[in-house]
Amino acid sequence: MKFFLDTGNVEEVRRAAALGVLDGVTTNPTLLAKEGKPFREALLEMCQLVDIVNGEVVATDAEGMIAEGHELAALHPNIVVKIPMTTEGFKAIKALRQDGIRINVTLVFSPAQALLVAKAGAYFVSPFLGRLDDIGQDGMQLLREIVAVYRAQNFKTEILAASLRHPMHVIEAAKLGAEIATMPFKVFEQLFQHPLTDKGLAAFLKDWEKARAVLGDILPAEVAKAKK
Ligand code: E4P
Repeated sequence: MKFFLDTGNVEEVRRAAALGVLDGVTTNPTLLAKEGKPFREALLEMCQLVDIVNGEVVATDAEGMIAEGHELAALHPNIVVKIPMTTEGFKAIKALRQDGIRINVTLVFSPAQALLVAKAGAYFVSPFLGRLDDIGQDGMQLLREIVAVYRAQNFKTEILAASLRHPMHVIEAAKLGAEIATMPFKVFEQLFQHPLTDKGLAAFLKDWEKARAVLGDILPAEVAKAKK
């Protein structure tokens, strides 16, 4: 499974990329607007840090989306263009794909929409799981159905589980076979954490210090020498 960070913040991307398990970034207009930084600049900086950066169009008509899509794709080869799940969006996908531009269809909330996305030849489909949970529906059930449809039809479009709110969302999406999980930085950090890891490490270090107090330097001589 690939991990993407769902953020408009370049520093978060830098910090996550340094840990060696980050594959890409998803942005959206809300996330980029929060940062108050010219969005092209932010996208370009992110492209230096990871292999895939999703940038979204804000036009709602096909013509406008096509123009913005070209502009975004021209920024850097790592850019994937996000297009909303609308009929105008589909006209834009047809044109942009003809020019070899990779598309992520965003704001997907039903298996029927996901089926259309794959038929249109999009690179990624982004079902928003958390937003369904937010209105009392089962986001994971949507993912389950999309995975079933895509596997039955052998579609190549990759499933990008989006709008994830907590680590269990990531684990469930992995179990169902989503190719990508995109998550806020907070959720990414939470994946690393477990109280027993912290407790275990503290105990190891305490025991080590106790032994050192009695035995002196307990590292093998050559390691101790190298550490000096
Ligand atoms: C993904 O591409 C979207 O930007 C994102 O996952 C939306 O998440 P939200 O529902 O937390 O805003």
